[in-house]
Amino acid sequence: MAKNLYIKTYGCQMNVYDSDRMADVLAPLGYTPSGNVDDADMVIINTCHIRERASEKVFSELGRLRRWKEQQQGLGRDVRIAVAGCVAQAEGEEISRRAPWVDVVVGPQAYHRLPELVSRTDPASRNAVIDTDFPVEDKFDFLPEEHTPRGPAAFLSVQEGCDKFCTFCVVPYTRGAEFSRPAASILTEASRLVASGTVELTLLGQNVNAWRGEAPDGGQWNFARLLSALAEISGLERIRYTTSHPTDMDDDLIMAHADIPQLMPYLHLPVQSGSDRILEAMNRRHSRDDYRRIIDRLRKARPDMALSGDFIVGFPGETDRDFADTINLIAEIEYASVYSFKYSPRPGTPAAGIDDQVDDQVKSDRLASLQQVTDSQQFAFNMQKVGSIMDVLVERPANRAGQRAGRSPWMQAVHFPEQSGEIGAIIPLRITAAHQKSLSGEPL
Ligand code: SAH
Ligand code: SF4
Ligand code: F3S
Repeated sequence: MAKNLYIKTYGCQMNVYDSDRMADVLAPLGYTPSGNVDDADMVIINTCHIRERASEKVFSELGRLRRWKEQQQGLGRDVRIAVAGCVAQAEGEEISRRAPWVDVVVGPQAYHRLPELVSRTDPASRNAVIDTDFPVEDKFDFLPEEHTPRGPAAFLSVQEGCDKFCTFCVVPYTRGAEFSRPAASILTEASRLVASGTVELTLLGQNVNAWRGEAPDGGQWNFARLLSALAEISGLERIRYTTSHPTDMDDDLIMAHADIPQLMPYLHLPVQSGSDRILEAMNRRHSRDDYRRIIDRLRKARPDMALSGDFIVGFPGETDRDFADTINLIAEIEYASVYSFKYSPRPGTPAAGIDDQVDDQVKSDRLASLQQVTDSQQFAFNMQKVGSIMDVLVERPANRAGQRAGRSPWMQAVHFPEQSGEIGAIIPLRITAAHQKSLSGEPL
């Protein structure tokens, strides 16, 4: 029987990938993804626990879904609500207690079991079916093929979990230990995606460059070797990977940026702080200078390499001087784009227990002054491209009529007239204008 599935996704790209995979897992049960919650037979919210604000959204969303479920039941419809993702993993029992109208709670490593979990739900029960195990089996072995094409630019998870235990971060607790998917399974999925029209692949992992996996012949590969195997798939024009940790940026991987033309000249390499004292307290396992040296070598390997990063302001004990070191590191690196956050104490993480928490107003002020610097770097980076000719992947119709949206090799959004090229094509465009977060282009 045909049923509609509505999935709402919060958090990082790994959640975006997982949401698509959950739809694949449920397809054999008759569920088809739908953009409309009102005609849904099942709603999944795929949640993020990284900062307080992200995880609070879950409970307000669940409040709305309670009313939705009551309305639907009033109409005689049998509907289900599932909570997936990192809040499900961290607070499964609590979700079931505070929101007894939730039917299923499933963690990020257990969602291949959704069909069985859904079959165990009982509309009359006030307890959710909960599965927040870190199973011994590999979920990827149990995921079916993609049910619908993913489009010209697709995500592919290759690595899960994290063993780094930065003192501010919940990911090691919500995603579990580091795990590298075997190369054969990655290559099969990549080839399938390319056959269905994907031309750009972004490999995903919380620590994607920590990937060390089983080679197709049973030996071991490092991440650089996996990249060169992927580059042999004909029709795969562009390869990216995210997120990387500086300590896993080994020589082979840096050299891959010189040797593999499909690897795009853009890397997201978070550093979090420019102060050695704070890096140490964060347990980042590298110094400011280590980070600088890695970037110098990347730029030597690939001179047009652009960088993006993540920064946290107001980590416990951060002084004005530490913050000034962050600002001057940003000035030295010159980022193409930066994501920055106020430190948010997370339950169960070591940094949340440090006495010396920074005042919220100070955090807000630091965030504003950091963003002033990074916004102007981003604009300057975009301005540098005006007048140049670059290859743009045509991704989708733009919001403006008659326009299409695509992306540059450096992850910039580009808008251009729709007659310039078909969706899925990579076309040369002349850049005519730069904006804060995008470029405008025209066909040659
Ligand atoms: N694995 C990646 C990023 C994971 S989370 C890495 O190691 O870089 C994405 C970003 O969220 C982090 O880079 C960090 O900047 C931010 N973040 C993580 N925990 C946070 C917290 N407790 N408060 C504020 N920002 C946080
Ligand atoms: Fe979190 Fe650090 Fe792991 Fe990144 S490396 S996921 S910030 S613990
Ligand atoms: Fe959020 Fe989980 Fe991703 S906490 S950032 S959804 S790994």
